[in-house]
Amino acid sequence: MSLFNYFRMKKITIVFTVFIVILSVFSCTNNTEETGTTYMPDMAYSRAYETYATTENLLEKGINYNATPVQGTVARGDMSAYIYKNDSFGYANSKSIKNPVSSLDEKDYLEATRLFLVNCAICHGDKLDGNGPLWKTGDGPFPAAPRNLISDPVAIAMAEGTMFHSVTYGKNMMGSFISQLSTKQRWMIVYYIKQKQRLASGGDVAKN
Ligand code: HEC
Repeated sequence: MSLFNYFRMKKITIVFTVFIVILSVFSCTNNTEETGTTYMPDMAYSRAYETYATTENLLEKGINYNATPVQGTVARGDMSAYIYKNDSFGYANSKSIKNPVSSLDEKDYLEATRLFLVNCAICHGDKLDGNGPLWKTGDGPFPAAPRNLISDPVAIAMAEGTMFHSVTYGKNMMGSFISQLSTKQRWMIVYYIKQKQRLASGGDVAKN
């Protein structure tokens, strides 16, 4: 290596070292207001997809999304939609609607039982006595007494259509099940409740 080249390489090293030193001094700052710049943030942080976060924005765009099926629509394979609206007229007239589920075979009865246990028993109790884990005779966290569906005369006298109406739209402190259960599933549960009442009163056991 010639002497000339030796000095030239040394100069490059010196310039490079000085550059690094200056860079490290200036890249540190005590400005706490600045968050700094992230290079390609999409790769560092995943995008947050929050359920329902954009519901209001959708409404501004004229899209009506509120997690309930559009009035009158029928899901594929489901029973035809319930005709009454969620108002006092609908509640009063619901009793005239007959349960389209007039009997259940063993498999469907088991399914109705399962649906009740999953969706309703937490409040109404697995024995339908209105004393589920959320109520516990007033010791539970739920503020309102669920209806005793097995021996309360009001529940025994209650028409299946009215039960269906209340399960569909909710009643006072009980929420609506319209988006959790299909029309058929709601009727199946109503059938299950009525069947339990019949069994408790020593009635029509043959039906299941
Ligand atoms: C979070 C607790 C809770 C759950 C879960 C719940 N209920 Fe209720 N339910 C209540 C309460 C409280 C009432 C009493 C409402 C009132 O009349 O003030 C009630 C009332 C009722 C009534 C009487 C309605 C009426 O018109 O008076 C029926 C029928 C009923 N529930 C059925 C069900 C069925 C079926 C399910 C499951 C699909 C269910 N409930 C799930 C709390 C609940």
